[in-house]
Amino acid sequence: MSAERIPLARPVIGAREEELVLEVLRSGMLSLGPKLGEFERGFASRVGVEPELVSAVSSGTAALHLAVREQGWGTGDRVVTTPLSFVASSNCLLFEGAEPVFCDVDPATLTLDPAAVESMLDERIDGLLPVHIFGFPAAIAELERIAAAHGLGLVEDCAQALGTVDAEGREAGSRGNPSAFAFYANKQMATGEGGMLISGSAEAADVARSERNQGRAPGMKFMDHERLGFNYRITDLQAALGIAQLERLDDMLAARAAIASRYSERFTAIGATEPGAGDPDDLVLPLADRGVERRSWFVYVLRLPKSVDRDGVIAELDRRGIDARPYLPCIHLLDLYRERGWREGQFPIAEDFSRRSLALPFYPALPEDSQERVVRELTDILGR
Ligand SMILES: Cc1ncc(COP(=O)(O)O)c(C=O)c1O
Repeated sequence: MSAERIPLARPVIGAREEELVLEVLRSGMLSLGPKLGEFERGFASRVGVEPELVSAVSSGTAALHLAVREQGWGTGDRVVTTPLSFVASSNCLLFEGAEPVFCDVDPATLTLDPAAVESMLDERIDGLLPVHIFGFPAAIAELERIAAAHGLGLVEDCAQALGTVDAEGREAGSRGNPSAFAFYANKQMATGEGGMLISGSAEAADVARSERNQGRAPGMKFMDHERLGFNYRITDLQAALGIAQLERLDDMLAARAAIASRYSERFTAIGATEPGAGDPDDLVLPLADRGVERRSWFVYVLRLPKSVDRDGVIAELDRRGIDARPYLPCIHLLDLYRERGWREGQFPIAEDFSRRSLALPFYPALPEDSQERVVRELTDILGR
């Protein structure tokens, strides 16, 4: 095949990133330097929260772990969460000895279904951990109402949701719930590895900043440690990347939205429909913005027709030089979770999506002709 391979994802890295990273290299302050605070303040301002609530950490998983600790969830605690997510959103509970209790998702938004959550609350439940999966906002106001009525803590997994706006017009991460973001290379903004925790209070953020730094308090001598901590520090090199990425975030989000919209237009032309608008067993598009709710496009994932061999389609796209992936496998069906008693058939909506999901090449600089090639090849493979 002579045509160039089309990758699934690729970060946007330019002169500004190089400039700021070089600045750090030349300063000699590679960690806990001035870029750390600058990145945290910039992120706080972007999401619309007070800067003292924000702690940059080494990964999204680290941010989730500290959020779980902020809620005090530990051994014997049971937290309702979604099986349709990346494994870290559930593993972060296991780190502390808490138990994820899975619950099915809404077929359109693919986020936790509040009615299903409510119907589970006769079990002994201590908290809720919704995920704004693929950048579409979870029904967060309803989940907050449920949490308040039942005295539950709530953590938001915003790893895929930088720039997402919920049904009340609020930015993901700005509602006062401990919230975790992630900056792996395929995310809306990338620092290579990295994450951000937005804590629910300034006191909790002080604890988180101590926990990310081996349990040291600010101003403590180098070898003093006042609590159990971790090494969840992010380097100033990554923070420098983060500062540069924040400057171009709006442009990158707009480019992602434009590419998503072009994909959806093309697939509509071959009979795909939005969730709830057509045959749910045929080719289904990802939900676009809905009223006030705004998706921050992280990935572009189709539901293939039920009758189609999804893995065969991926293999054929691969043969034609196009990267595509099943995205995501259900967490409860991974071996680690099967060993804890979870089984096929428990969450039909999440499982159906997962079996049929196809993530296509999707990143801000995806050239239009490459995108048209993806559409052409997939159309041909599906025989439409
Ligand atoms: C929903 C979700 N939660 C958590 C994470 C973990 O983030 P990280 O890979 O930065 O640890 C990811 C990363 O892909 C994610 O997609």
